[in-house]
Amino acid sequence: MFKKLILALVVCLFFAAIVRAQDDDDEEAQALPATTLIVYKNLKEYEAIVNNNITIAITVYNVGESAAYNVQIKDNDWPEGSVETLEGENKASVDVIEAGSNFTFSYTIVPRATGDILTIPAVVSFSPVQDDDSNRKFSRSNPIPKIPVLTQSEYDKKHDGHVDDVLIFLLLLTLPIGVPAVMYLYADNQIAALAADKKKLKTK
Ligand SMILES: *[C@@H]1O[C@H](CO)[C@@H](O)[C@H](O)[C@H]1NC(C)=O
Ligand SMILES: *[C@@H]1O[C@H](CO)[C@@H](O)[C@H](O)[C@H]1NC(C)=O
Repeated sequence: MFKKLILALVVCLFFAAIVRAQDDDDEEAQALPATTLIVYKNLKEYEAIVNNNITIAITVYNVGESAAYNVQIKDNDWPEGSVETLEGENKASVDVIEAGSNFTFSYTIVPRATGDILTIPAVVSFSPVQDDDSNRKFSRSNPIPKIPVLTQSEYDKKHDGHVDDVLIFLLLLTLPIGVPAVMYLYADNQIAALAADKKKLKTK
């Protein structure tokens, strides 16, 4: 009998909890301001050279209609041992980002080994209500492609090769224009020379 009573009590409490949770959800859905953050992660160059700096910039835009509070931004961790953080940190926090404004931070890393570095999007969390962290919201940044880390000579080779190709291409392009242009200039010079000769003859 006592057992049954306890069971009934537990079942009652359980349902009461569910109903309360639903109430909370409804209230919150109505009460929470519409705050939307967009996170943009950006590298100057999507190709790196071993032992050369890479700067990662992260900008959080508040495109919603109300402020975001207690904003915490965390970028991916970098492979330990092969990547060193030189300046700044891969995370930042800011008390408030007002609607229509933005927050930027950047940090500098340096790869100590060649190979591809894989990353994951940065994550931002924030509270839509001031001084109330009970409804934290999350957004992710854009992903960035894997970062190939090359040696200086690999990098130079790759990019020199590129320049050569472009130059040859440009040269080929100018041939049809260039050859007639040169001939025209030559002819023009000849005419000018003839005219000058004629003038000389006249003045004599
Ligand atoms: C690399 O970053 C460090 C720390 O920010 C800086 O002191 C150094 O000048 C940078 N090197 C280059 C080549 O930009
Ligand atoms: C970001 O905020 C700065 C001021 O902090 C402002 O000058 C800049 O225009 C903003 N950028 C965008 C894209 O809203």
